[in-house]
Amino acid sequence: MLQNTELKYYIETWGCQMNEEDSEKLSGMLKRIGYSNTEVKEEADIIIFNTCCVRENAENKVFGNLGLLKAMKEKKPNLIIAICGCMMQQKDMADKVLKTFPYVDIIFGTHNSYKFPEYLDMVQKEGVQIKEIINKEEGIVEGLPIDRKSDVKAFVTIMYGCNNFCTYCIVPYVRGRERSRKVDDILKEVKELVSLGYKEVTLLGQNVNSFGKDLGDDMTFAKLLRVVNEVEGLERIRFMTSHPKDLTDDVIQAVKECDKLCEQIHLPVQSGSSRVLKEMNRSYTKEQYLELARKIRKEIPGVSISTDIIIGFPGETEEDFLDTLDLVKEVEYDSAFTFIYSRRNNTPADRMENQISEEIKHERFNRLVKQVNEIVEKRNKEYNGEVVEVLVEGKSKNQEDRLMGRTRNGRLVNFEGSQENIGKLVNVKITKAGSFSLTGEEYK
Ligand code: SAH
Ligand code: SF4
Ligand code: F3S
Repeated sequence: MLQNTELKYYIETWGCQMNEEDSEKLSGMLKRIGYSNTEVKEEADIIIFNTCCVRENAENKVFGNLGLLKAMKEKKPNLIIAICGCMMQQKDMADKVLKTFPYVDIIFGTHNSYKFPEYLDMVQKEGVQIKEIINKEEGIVEGLPIDRKSDVKAFVTIMYGCNNFCTYCIVPYVRGRERSRKVDDILKEVKELVSLGYKEVTLLGQNVNSFGKDLGDDMTFAKLLRVVNEVEGLERIRFMTSHPKDLTDDVIQAVKECDKLCEQIHLPVQSGSSRVLKEMNRSYTKEQYLELARKIRKEIPGVSISTDIIIGFPGETEEDFLDTLDLVKEVEYDSAFTFIYSRRNNTPADRMENQISEEIKHERFNRLVKQVNEIVEKRNKEYNGEVVEVLVEGKSKNQEDRLMGRTRNGRLVNFEGSQENIGKLVNVKITKAGSFSLTGEEYK
């Protein structure tokens, strides 16, 4: 009998779609050199942790998980442990990790993940420990293999990094400055995806609206949207994230006019207080944001607007917080991610003296979540009895006999239907609307 000598890798990914995509590339590179994926940590010959540091709890999870690997490494000395991602780009973090968890074999950052196979080879051949963090962004490396999680929808990064330096945020320090990919490279990737059967792409960047500014050829995000909309065979296009200060009328018109562009805009507000927004360096006021949200609702029928909100930013008063609640009611968000402010090393907000107590933060957070849930539920209920177009992504998470997919404006729908529908657009009649998802039945 043939023995299964195939080597396996396990990847755990924290953080945003940027990290998800990097993990898909790591996975692609490993498959190319003959490894196969496992979802069971104990089975793995290589364990990779792709880390996030946007909030403290993201970091704590990584530390906890690293501690648990000690016993595994003792049992299986050939196990290779690699840590990468945003957290490793922080000053002195790689050294801290090596000191506390000396059994880690490879540490690299966000700018050199394409070199992972090289590092792996060195560790295997020479038994060395590798730590390589590059602090300056290099050119964009194109053509890496990518092993995507879904066969229906795909993330396509259109730009890397961020120039905005919101005072609470660590992302610009760990992801570097903005760099746009060339339009031809983006188009090539989208066309390849379509030829593989993909139906939907999400164009990704920390602030997609500044796409093209560094390319120097009059390219704008709105123009890119129109070019991608021409790709034959593609059904749906989404994008994230839009910084409210940079979302232009051209982009709104592109969403309105292009058939493949889905009616969904993620527009992080962060706070509803103009005073706090100024301290956050967000460059818009509550009124300007509301004006923009109204314009989007007016121009794009059926649009859904989602957001990110932080409570407990230094100096946030009850009045500031009430401004946020008020804005949430006014915009009537279709969904919202809510966060408790987390101090991040070396960011301007961390140096502010008027930090808010944990108790007040939690109390405000609970009130905010309640408000958000009420509104989201109310908006979802408007779909009761409606027929919506769903792109079927696969089986439902908890109910294997059901299918799940999303409406054009991003709502999650679970429904009974044949598996042959996976990857297809199906009309679904909504029979029940919950706070997080809709339930329905196929409508023929
Ligand atoms: N570039 C995107 C998202 C970046 S991170 C944008 O500008 O919207 C995702 C979200 O994490 C942010 O929108 C913000 O709401 C939240 N976030 C960032 N730093 C944070 C911090 N220090 N504490 C709490 N939440 C934070
Ligand atoms: Fe962070 Fe602001 Fe950049 Fe978003 S725009 S990644 S919140 S600095
Ligand atoms: Fe986290 Fe890095 Fe994304 S810090 S949120 S994984 S860009």
